[in-house]
Amino acid sequence: MSYETLEIEDRDAARIVRINRPKALNALNQAVVAELSRVLEALTEQVQAGDFSVRGLILTGAGDKAFVAGADIAAMREMDPDQAMRFASQGHAVGEMLANLPIPAIAAVNGFALGGGCELAMACDFIIASEKAKFGQPEVKLAVIPGFGGTQRLTRRVGLARAIELCVTGEMIRADEALRIGLANRVVAPEQLLDTCLGIVAAVAKMGPLAIAAAKRVLHQGAELPLEAANQLEIEAFAGLFASADQREGMQAFLDKREPTFTGK
Ligand code: CAA
Repeated sequence: MSYETLEIEDRDAARIVRINRPKALNALNQAVVAELSRVLEALTEQVQAGDFSVRGLILTGAGDKAFVAGADIAAMREMDPDQAMRFASQGHAVGEMLANLPIPAIAAVNGFALGGGCELAMACDFIIASEKAKFGQPEVKLAVIPGFGGTQRLTRRVGLARAIELCVTGEMIRADEALRIGLANRVVAPEQLLDTCLGIVAAVAKMGPLAIAAAKRVLHQGAELPLEAANQLEIEAFAGLFASADQREGMQAFLDKREPTFTGK
């Protein structure tokens, strides 16, 4: 598949997706959102078909300045409410596809992650930030609010008080502050960013793929449920994994004091 706005590279067990509109600081227009949907749909189908050659997605921005500086302001300027509704729904659909992807998604935030860029990063399972990264939800400066999940995902990640502060002031924060408030998982030197993300994928690639998919699903779905229902989800997913060959292999390998060989079955 060829893409106009994305660069795709498979390296080791990682699929690296670079949003590539550096002249607009990788801003998200409809083409980017549509292409991200296609990439995620194809990857989900690939994994669901039992092809575990890709064990993690790394999402990043082309160039050295921006991850994504937001939704494309030039494209949004002339939108009417119906068009804005469709655009926001498409952005939300990408967020849901990232959450439902049966492998971890890692945002490698190499620069500005503003508005839709911060929202895209938050829809990933990990946010690994370069020391040069800057985060923010500056939509109020444009007299709108976040539309790709920012109000809700930010609240869930950093709590209501800080989310309100960021969404109402439009303030931009540095990577160390993003780490401090729990928005970013790790901050690394710019030249370490990709290797750090590849290292996470390499670590995941040693684990049973069905267990990784189950852990991600239970964590995401359980976070939206009352505790009792969430615990039930865990019990069922835990038990379900005992029907897999990988469960036997993982436990037998431990007892045999050898490395396991997982097949995703
Ligand atoms: N949309 C479209 N173009 C953008 C853009 C965006 N979000 N962000 C930057 N660009 C463009 C600029 O217009 C500029 O283009 P030209 O060279 O053709 O003039 C180019 O990228 C470089 O940007 P700057 O010259 O502004 O670079 P800078 O270093 O001076 O500033 C910045 C960098 C602080 C990130 C600044 O570009 C900026 O504030 N960008 C907008 C950030 C923003 O408001 N994002 C939220 C958008 S709304 C949204 O995302 C809604 C939603 O939730 C779905």
